[in-house]
Amino acid sequence: MVHLREMDYADIEAVSTIRVRGWQAACAGIVPQTYLDAMTVEGDAGQRRQWSSQPERKSRDLVALGDRRPVGWICFGPHRGEILSLERVGEVHALYISPDLIGQGIGRTLLGEAHAQMKGQGFETSALWVLYDNQRARRFYERAGDKADGAAQDDVYDGITLTELRYQRVLLQGPACRFGLTATGQPSTIRSMLDHRGLSGLSGQEQECTRAPRWKRFQAARRQ
Ligand SMILES: CC(C)(COP(=O)(O)OP(=O)(O)OC[C@H]1O[C@@H](n2cnc3c(N)ncnc32)[C@H](O)[C@@H]1OP(=O)(O)O)[C@@H](O)C(=O)NCCC(=O)NCCS
Repeated sequence: MVHLREMDYADIEAVSTIRVRGWQAACAGIVPQTYLDAMTVEGDAGQRRQWSSQPERKSRDLVALGDRRPVGWICFGPHRGEILSLERVGEVHALYISPDLIGQGIGRTLLGEAHAQMKGQGFETSALWVLYDNQRARRFYERAGDKADGAAQDDVYDGITLTELRYQRVLLQGPACRFGLTATGQPSTIRSMLDHRGLSGLSGQEQECTRAPRWKRFQAARRQ
Protein backbone atom coordinates (compact mmCIF):
# COMPACT_ATOMS: atom_id res chain seq x y z
CA MET A 1 0.00 0.00 0.00
CA VAL A 2 1.48 3.33 -1.02
CA HIS A 3 0.70 6.83 0.18
CA LEU A 4 0.63 9.73 -2.33
CA ARG A 5 1.66 13.33 -1.75
CA GLU A 6 3.08 16.35 -3.60
CA MET A 7 6.73 16.05 -4.45
CA ASP A 8 9.00 18.10 -2.15
CA TYR A 9 12.27 19.70 -3.12
CA ALA A 10 13.94 17.13 -0.86
CA ASP A 11 12.45 14.29 -2.98
CA ILE A 12 14.20 15.37 -6.15
CA GLU A 13 17.21 13.10 -5.88
CA ALA A 14 14.98 10.07 -5.19
CA VAL A 15 12.69 11.02 -8.10
CA SER A 16 15.67 11.38 -10.43
CA THR A 17 16.92 7.97 -9.33
CA ILE A 18 13.52 6.45 -10.14
CA ARG A 19 13.41 8.19 -13.52
CA VAL A 20 16.97 7.37 -14.60
CA ARG A 21 16.82 3.75 -13.40
CA GLY A 22 13.32 3.45 -14.89
CA TRP A 23 14.50 4.67 -18.27
CA GLN A 24 17.55 2.42 -18.20
CA ALA A 25 15.43 -0.63 -17.34
CA ALA A 26 12.40 0.04 -19.57
CA CYS A 27 14.27 1.34 -22.60
CA ALA A 28 17.15 -1.16 -22.76
CA GLY A 29 17.12 -2.62 -26.26
CA ILE A 30 14.90 0.23 -27.50
CA VAL A 31 16.91 3.42 -26.93
CA PRO A 32 20.65 3.21 -27.83
CA GLN A 33 22.70 1.98 -24.89
CA THR A 34 25.09 4.93 -25.28
CA TYR A 35 22.18 7.29 -24.56
CA LEU A 36 21.06 5.28 -21.52
CA ASP A 37 24.61 5.00 -20.15
CA ALA A 38 25.04 8.77 -20.40
CA MET A 39 22.02 9.41 -18.12
CA THR A 40 23.03 10.21 -14.56
CA VAL A 41 21.00 10.80 -11.42
CA GLU A 42 23.11 13.88 -10.63
CA GLY A 43 22.51 15.42 -14.05
CA ASP A 44 18.80 14.67 -13.95
CA ALA A 45 18.44 16.02 -10.41
CA GLY A 46 20.27 19.23 -11.29
CA GLN A 47 17.91 19.89 -14.18
CA ARG A 48 14.87 19.01 -12.07
CA ARG A 49 15.91 21.43 -9.30
CA GLN A 50 16.12 24.20 -11.89
CA TRP A 51 12.69 23.37 -13.34
CA SER A 52 11.06 23.05 -9.95
CA SER A 53 12.14 26.57 -8.98
CA GLN A 54 10.73 28.23 -12.10
CA PRO A 55 7.81 30.43 -10.98
CA GLU A 56 5.95 30.01 -14.31
CA ARG A 57 5.94 26.25 -13.96
CA LYS A 58 2.39 24.90 -14.45
CA SER A 59 2.92 21.17 -14.00
CA ARG A 60 2.47 19.27 -10.75
CA ASP A 61 4.45 16.35 -9.37
CA LEU A 62 3.17 13.62 -7.09
CA VAL A 63 5.23 10.93 -5.44
CA ALA A 64 4.13 7.53 -4.18
CA LEU A 65 5.74 6.73 -0.85
CA GLY A 66 6.50 3.18 0.15
CA ASP A 67 8.30 2.65 3.42
CA ARG A 68 8.61 6.48 3.66
CA ARG A 69 10.72 6.83 0.52
CA PRO A 70 9.50 7.77 -2.97
CA VAL A 71 8.95 4.65 -5.08
CA GLY A 72 7.00 6.26 -7.93
CA TRP A 73 6.53 9.67 -9.51
CA ILE A 74 4.06 11.27 -11.88
CA CYS A 75 4.23 14.71 -13.48
CA PHE A 76 1.18 16.23 -15.17
CA GLY A 77 -0.21 19.58 -16.25
CA PRO A 78 -1.47 21.46 -19.28
CA HIS A 79 -0.73 19.87 -22.65
CA ARG A 80 2.47 21.38 -24.06
CA GLY A 81 1.82 20.66 -27.70
CA GLU A 82 -0.46 22.22 -30.21
CA ILE A 83 -3.66 20.19 -30.23
CA LEU A 84 -6.31 22.44 -31.74
CA SER A 85 -9.30 21.86 -29.55
CA LEU A 86 -12.24 23.53 -27.86
CA GLU A 87 -11.47 21.43 -24.84
CA ARG A 88 -8.92 22.03 -22.11
CA VAL A 89 -6.32 19.38 -22.73
CA GLY A 90 -4.02 18.15 -19.98
CA GLU A 91 -1.04 15.87 -20.30
CA VAL A 92 0.70 13.21 -18.27
CA HIS A 93 4.28 14.32 -18.86
CA ALA A 94 6.03 11.49 -17.02
CA LEU A 95 5.24 8.39 -14.97
CA TYR A 96 7.95 6.20 -13.46
CA ILE A 97 7.95 3.45 -10.86
CA SER A 98 11.05 1.99 -9.15
CA PRO A 99 12.05 -0.90 -11.42
CA ASP A 100 12.00 -3.35 -8.46
CA LEU A 101 8.37 -2.44 -7.67
CA ILE A 102 6.85 -2.56 -11.14
CA GLY A 103 3.60 -4.50 -11.50
CA GLN A 104 2.31 -3.85 -7.97
CA GLY A 105 -0.37 -1.30 -8.80
CA ILE A 106 1.65 1.84 -7.98
CA GLY A 107 1.47 3.19 -11.54
CA ARG A 108 -2.26 2.69 -11.60
CA THR A 109 -2.68 4.49 -8.27
CA LEU A 110 -0.57 7.48 -9.39
CA LEU A 111 -2.30 7.73 -12.76
CA GLY A 112 -5.75 7.59 -11.13
CA GLU A 113 -4.85 10.41 -8.73
CA ALA A 114 -3.35 12.54 -11.51
CA HIS A 115 -6.55 12.15 -13.55
CA ALA A 116 -8.68 13.06 -10.52
CA GLN A 117 -6.62 16.22 -9.95
CA MET A 118 -6.71 17.12 -13.65
CA LYS A 119 -10.49 16.81 -13.60
CA GLY A 120 -10.55 19.04 -10.53
CA GLN A 121 -8.54 21.61 -12.50
CA GLY A 122 -11.10 21.48 -15.34
CA PHE A 123 -9.16 19.50 -17.92
CA GLU A 124 -11.58 17.69 -20.19
CA THR A 125 -9.06 15.45 -21.94
CA SER A 126 -5.72 13.99 -20.94
CA ALA A 127 -2.99 13.15 -23.45
CA LEU A 128 0.41 11.48 -23.18
CA TRP A 129 3.23 10.36 -25.43
CA VAL A 130 4.79 6.91 -25.24
CA LEU A 131 7.49 5.20 -27.29
CA TYR A 132 6.01 2.84 -29.86
CA ASP A 133 8.40 0.09 -28.68
CA ASN A 134 7.63 0.52 -24.97
CA GLN A 135 5.16 -2.34 -25.00
CA ARG A 136 4.75 -2.58 -21.23
CA ALA A 137 3.86 1.08 -20.88
CA ARG A 138 1.49 0.95 -23.86
CA ARG A 139 -0.25 -2.11 -22.43
CA PHE A 140 -0.48 -0.37 -19.05
CA TYR A 141 -2.07 2.78 -20.53
CA GLU A 142 -4.45 0.77 -22.72
CA ARG A 143 -5.64 -1.27 -19.72
CA ALA A 144 -6.10 1.98 -17.84
CA GLY A 145 -8.40 3.30 -20.59
CA ASP A 146 -6.18 5.49 -22.78
CA LYS A 147 -6.41 5.09 -26.55
CA ALA A 148 -3.89 5.83 -29.29
CA ASP A 149 -5.40 8.72 -31.27
CA GLY A 150 -3.39 8.19 -34.46
CA ALA A 151 -0.82 10.95 -33.86
CA ALA A 152 2.86 10.04 -33.95
CA GLN A 153 6.14 11.92 -33.78
CA ASP A 154 9.78 11.03 -34.12
CA ASP A 155 12.56 11.78 -31.67
CA VAL A 156 16.27 11.18 -32.28
CA TYR A 157 18.34 9.46 -29.59
CA ASP A 158 22.07 9.33 -30.36
CA GLY A 159 21.36 9.22 -34.07
CA ILE A 160 18.56 6.63 -33.87
CA THR A 161 15.05 7.80 -34.72
CA LEU A 162 12.30 6.39 -32.53
CA THR A 163 8.59 6.92 -32.88
CA GLU A 164 6.26 7.99 -30.10
CA LEU A 165 2.50 7.58 -30.18
CA ARG A 166 0.01 9.93 -28.59
CA TYR A 167 -2.69 8.47 -26.36
CA GLN A 168 -5.74 10.28 -25.06
CA ARG A 169 -8.66 9.78 -22.73
CA VAL A 170 -11.74 11.81 -21.91
CA LEU A 171 -11.81 13.14 -18.34
CA LEU A 172 -14.89 15.36 -18.39
CA GLN A 173 -17.73 15.79 -20.82
CA GLY A 174 -16.74 19.09 -22.44
CA PRO A 175 -18.45 21.06 -25.22
CA ALA A 176 -17.12 18.74 -27.93
CA CYS A 177 -18.47 15.66 -26.15
CA ARG A 178 -21.86 17.30 -25.74
CA PHE A 179 -21.97 17.27 -29.56
CA GLY A 180 -21.12 13.58 -29.46
CA LEU A 181 -17.73 14.35 -30.93
CA THR A 182 -14.17 14.16 -29.78
CA ALA A 183 -12.53 17.49 -30.33
CA THR A 184 -8.92 16.44 -30.08
CA GLY A 185 -7.77 14.23 -32.89
CA GLN A 186 -8.34 14.21 -36.58
CA PRO A 187 -8.84 17.40 -38.61
CA SER A 188 -12.08 16.11 -40.10
CA THR A 189 -13.51 15.67 -36.61
CA ILE A 190 -12.56 19.17 -35.60
CA ARG A 191 -13.91 20.58 -38.84
CA SER A 192 -17.32 18.98 -38.29
CA MET A 193 -17.35 20.15 -34.70
CA LEU A 194 -16.62 23.73 -35.76
CA ASP A 195 -19.28 23.46 -38.46
CA HIS A 196 -21.71 22.37 -35.75
CA ARG A 197 -20.92 25.55 -33.88
CA GLY A 198 -21.43 27.70 -36.95
CA LEU A 199 -17.72 28.41 -37.30
CA SER A 200 -15.93 28.29 -40.61
CA GLY A 201 -13.68 25.41 -41.66
CA LEU A 202 -10.06 25.17 -40.77
CA SER A 203 -7.20 26.63 -42.76
CA GLY A 204 -4.43 24.32 -43.88
CA GLN A 205 -2.20 25.74 -41.17
CA GLU A 206 -4.79 25.02 -38.48
CA GLN A 207 -5.17 21.48 -39.76
CA GLU A 208 -1.43 21.14 -39.52
CA CYS A 209 -1.68 22.00 -35.82
CA THR A 210 -3.86 18.97 -35.24
CA ARG A 211 -1.14 16.64 -36.45
CA ALA A 212 1.66 15.67 -34.14
CA PRO A 213 4.00 18.64 -33.95
CA ARG A 214 7.73 18.10 -33.77
CA TRP A 215 7.96 20.27 -30.67
CA LYS A 216 11.61 21.02 -31.00
CA ARG A 217 11.24 23.80 -28.43
CA PHE A 218 9.58 21.44 -25.96
CA GLN A 219 11.96 18.56 -26.38
CA ALA A 220 14.17 19.21 -23.39
CA ALA A 221 11.17 19.58 -21.10
CA ARG A 222 9.37 16.63 -22.62
CA ARG A 223 12.20 14.31 -21.73
CA GLN A 224 11.07 14.49 -18.13
C1 LIG B 1 4.53 1.79 -17.12
C2 LIG B 1 4.59 1.83 -15.58
C3 LIG B 1 4.52 3.28 -15.13
C4 LIG B 1 3.38 1.06 -15.04
O1 LIG B 1 3.40 1.14 -13.61
P1 LIG B 1 3.19 -0.19 -12.73
O2 LIG B 1 3.17 0.22 -11.32
O3 LIG B 1 4.20 -1.19 -13.11
O4 LIG B 1 1.77 -0.68 -13.25
P2 LIG B 1 0.60 -1.33 -12.35
O5 LIG B 1 1.24 -2.32 -11.43
O6 LIG B 1 -0.20 -0.25 -11.77
O7 LIG B 1 -0.24 -2.10 -13.43
C5 LIG B 1 -0.01 -3.49 -13.54
C6 LIG B 1 -0.93 -4.13 -14.47
O8 LIG B 1 -2.25 -3.64 -14.37
C7 LIG B 1 -2.71 -3.14 -15.60
N1 LIG B 1 -3.54 -1.93 -15.35
C8 LIG B 1 -3.11 -0.68 -15.09
N2 LIG B 1 -4.15 0.16 -14.90
C9 LIG B 1 -5.26 -0.59 -15.03
C10 LIG B 1 -6.66 -0.30 -14.94
N3 LIG B 1 -7.11 0.94 -14.67
N4 LIG B 1 -7.53 -1.33 -15.12
C11 LIG B 1 -7.07 -2.58 -15.40
N5 LIG B 1 -5.76 -2.91 -15.50
C12 LIG B 1 -4.87 -1.93 -15.31
C13 LIG B 1 -1.43 -2.88 -16.34
O9 LIG B 1 -1.62 -2.97 -17.74
C14 LIG B 1 -0.50 -3.96 -15.85
O10 LIG B 1 -0.70 -5.19 -16.49
P3 LIG B 1 0.56 -6.13 -16.89
O11 LIG B 1 1.14 -6.61 -15.60
O12 LIG B 1 -0.05 -7.23 -17.68
O13 LIG B 1 1.52 -5.28 -17.66
C15 LIG B 1 5.88 1.17 -15.03
O14 LIG B 1 5.98 -0.10 -15.58
C16 LIG B 1 7.14 1.96 -15.32
O15 LIG B 1 7.58 2.77 -14.52
N6 LIG B 1 7.79 1.67 -16.46
C17 LIG B 1 9.04 2.31 -16.81
C18 LIG B 1 8.89 3.76 -17.17
C19 LIG B 1 7.90 3.95 -18.28
O16 LIG B 1 7.91 3.25 -19.28
N7 LIG B 1 7.08 5.00 -18.10
C20 LIG B 1 6.07 5.38 -19.07
C21 LIG B 1 6.71 6.34 -20.02
S1 LIG B 1 5.42 7.05 -21.03
